[in-house]
Amino acid sequence: MKNFELQVENYMINRCLEHLKHKEKILKRPLTFNYRLEHTRTAVAFADSLAQELGVDPALAKIATWLHDIAKCWDPSLSPEENRLRGKNHAQVGGDEAANYLRSIGFPPELSFQVQQAIATHAGLTKDYLIHEPLSAIVWDADKLSKVSGAGLLHYLGEILSAGNERIDLASFLADEGRKELQELHLGIRDSFNTETARLRADGEMAAAAKLRGQMLAAILGRKHGDGSSASLEP
Ligand SMILES: [Fe+2]
Ligand SMILES: [Fe+2]
Repeated sequence: MKNFELQVENYMINRCLEHLKHKEKILKRPLTFNYRLEHTRTAVAFADSLAQELGVDPALAKIATWLHDIAKCWDPSLSPEENRLRGKNHAQVGGDEAANYLRSIGFPPELSFQVQQAIATHAGLTKDYLIHEPLSAIVWDADKLSKVSGAGLLHYLGEILSAGNERIDLASFLADEGRKELQELHLGIRDSFNTETARLRADGEMAAAAKLRGQMLAAILGRKHGDGSSASLEP
């Protein structure tokens, strides 16, 4: 399984780089941050630790999570319209694409099917039902942990700085990231996790993210550092 894991990791790193090159070609300028790769890498790390805690093969969980957003990576063999459509339905299409890829490298068919199912059911941020199949539960939770953690905040910042579509004022950005609607969305995401292990992990990651955001805001404003979790622009 370790060999398959390395093969999938290399394959997805290349797909994410290829996706970035495609964006650079469209924009006609270099991009300094690869959101696809960074988000996926963090999700894979969360999948690894969740799998270890839940008694699922960590290599299988990492393989599924490396592949989970494959349909968001540009496919040069398809037209722009076909790429747009697969991106819109990236969970279902991604499950099929991942299964085809795994078949091409000789991955066990019964495990390919599990990976396909896990990817097909990962779309969305919140839900009102539990996923009971362990691998699918882990992929959902790891993907969303990557978004609500401090890493998610940095991924978002990296993405908007690299995209260069807007000028951002770092203090306003960090203050805005603490807004009530976003906190409520994150709590909704947290409540949608499939296992108590993932919910507890989310509580820890969300508290750490709030602290990180507050400390970065305090640093930018030259304020004395507290725990910073309720930091705002107000003096
Ligand atoms: Fe996704
Ligand atoms: Fe994702």
